[in-house]
Amino acid sequence: MDFEQFLSSEVNALRDKNLDWKVRTLEGSSVPRARVSGKDVIMLCSNNYLGLSNHPELKEAAIKAIQTHGAGSGSVRVIAGTQDLHLKLEKTIARFKHTPAALYFQTGFAANQGAIPCLTGEGDLLISDELNHGSIIDGVRLSKAERAIFKHKNMEDLERVLKEAKAKNHRNVFVITDGVFSMDGDIAPLDKIEKIAHEYGAVIYVDDAHGDGVLGEHGRGIVSHFKLEGKIEMEMGTFSKGFGVVGGYVAGSQALYDYLQNKARSFLLSGSAPPATVAACTASLELLESDGSLVAKLWENTKYFKGQLAAMGFDTGESETPITPIMLGESKLAQDFASKLFEEGVFALPIVFPMVAQGKARIRTMVTAAHSRQDLDDALSAIEKVGKKLGVGKK
Ligand SMILES: Cc1ncc(COP(=O)(O)O)c(C=O)c1O
Repeated sequence: MDFEQFLSSEVNALRDKNLDWKVRTLEGSSVPRARVSGKDVIMLCSNNYLGLSNHPELKEAAIKAIQTHGAGSGSVRVIAGTQDLHLKLEKTIARFKHTPAALYFQTGFAANQGAIPCLTGEGDLLISDELNHGSIIDGVRLSKAERAIFKHKNMEDLERVLKEAKAKNHRNVFVITDGVFSMDGDIAPLDKIEKIAHEYGAVIYVDDAHGDGVLGEHGRGIVSHFKLEGKIEMEMGTFSKGFGVVGGYVAGSQALYDYLQNKARSFLLSGSAPPATVAACTASLELLESDGSLVAKLWENTKYFKGQLAAMGFDTGESETPITPIMLGESKLAQDFASKLFEEGVFALPIVFPMVAQGKARIRTMVTAAHSRQDLDDALSAIEKVGKKLGVGKK
């Protein structure tokens, strides 16, 4: 078999199991009434929680930055690619997060892949929630530290692992958790994790990708939500979701900043983010600092949408955030549900095995602050109609 045949046969194997990605195209911006693959649809699967990706202030900041600083940065950060815009953004992240410092990465994925393996090494123990995001898992795989998994949000299990580790005298012990879990929309009990981890002398690394712009005062994230400012050693997050742009960060002490800047390989060995991106990220945080109304609107929409789905008899699982799954069970049903919804003009993705356990397939919906009541009502009618056709929800 030649190489091309090998590649095709691998993709065909995925196709045969219906596990390949059937990617649709967004023709224009990510807005509630979007054009996707030639069809007008209501967008229910973007992480653009606050609608900021299309906000005039962010767009203006990006355009201005291109005019003053160019289209690209010309280098990696530690050589000649640290522009004043990068430092301004990092100061703004630290101010927004109420931490002494924050290091900006090109993406959240790069932040997890760079930070986790360089912070942890031989003699350390890494303890990770079983449902943590793939970028954490990949970061953990790159680490030379010993690893342990604790059952999802199960504090007895976390304590068991910490207790067993005590006798081994590790150099450092890390507890790593998502803040909001991306498949179920449930929130990590960070207040409890903080108590238990610190009782055993462990340090905490929380991935706030889906809490940024969503949880806490003015969308400051999960640490603000639990009023734990100053108590969590490392807060990682992304600009690609609630903040509406792209990029990642790790926020914490100045010592953490200096360490990562010198050791995180994804930071050191990759070109720095372009001026337009960086300026738009700063504008996004500045906007949120001065105005909490988008976060309030997001929660108003979330509560309305979840309430209506429950009234229609749909099971929304463990969700506590704008990530609202409609639990369906079998993969085939979730796939049929999504394609029928698309025909009805609603864009929401099926989430099936291996992304979630067998028998836990679902449609994952995400409302944003930009959706109007009409958008939500139209989407809900379509969901009800498809549910009736497929025998899901109230009979
Ligand atoms: C929990 C979590 N962490 C990290 C990431 C990666 O972030 P980014 O999109 O900035 O690479 C994602 C995005 O998919 C995520 O859901």
